[in-house]
Amino acid sequence: MKRVITYGTFDLLHFGHVRLLKRAKALGDYLIVAISTDEFNAIKGKKSYQNFVLRKKMLEAIRYVDLVIPEDKWEQKPEDIKKYKIDIVVMGSDWAGDVRFELLKKYCHVKYLTRTAGVSTTRIKNDLRT
Ligand code: CTP
Repeated sequence: MKRVITYGTFDLLHFGHVRLLKRAKALGDYLIVAISTDEFNAIKGKKSYQNFVLRKKMLEAIRYVDLVIPEDKWEQKPEDIKKYKIDIVVMGSDWAGDVRFELLKKYCHVKYLTRTAGVSTTRIKNDLRT
């Protein structure tokens, strides 16, 4: 059983998210999505439109997702890899080369998937504002 994990906020779920999750699941058998808690987002200076509980419920409704867990601190990733026996960490290509993910290569595989062009939560928020 190959176990995959990915990280993100996944606010205002959109096609770029679903496409990322579909490809992440296809790399293994079991996909865990770790989503930033509202408190962790506040530490990062971010605020999501939908709170943690709603974001979690939306992701749990997606067929590619097997488990949704909270991410509430920077140093959690190596702990998750060990605890959930992760084989591959997957992130969108906007994170390629980021030291926070590169460092995980000593524990498991790290794979960056091409980001879907033309859509992001930030863009949706901006488009709806105008
Ligand atoms: N992602 C993607 N393609 C997009 C948008 C996001 O593949 N068009 C991926 C990101 O690379 C990340 C995951 O989806 O691995 C969760 O991204 P997140 O930051 O929650 O979504 P964004 O839409 O990028 O949100 P924001 O605009 O707030 O950064």
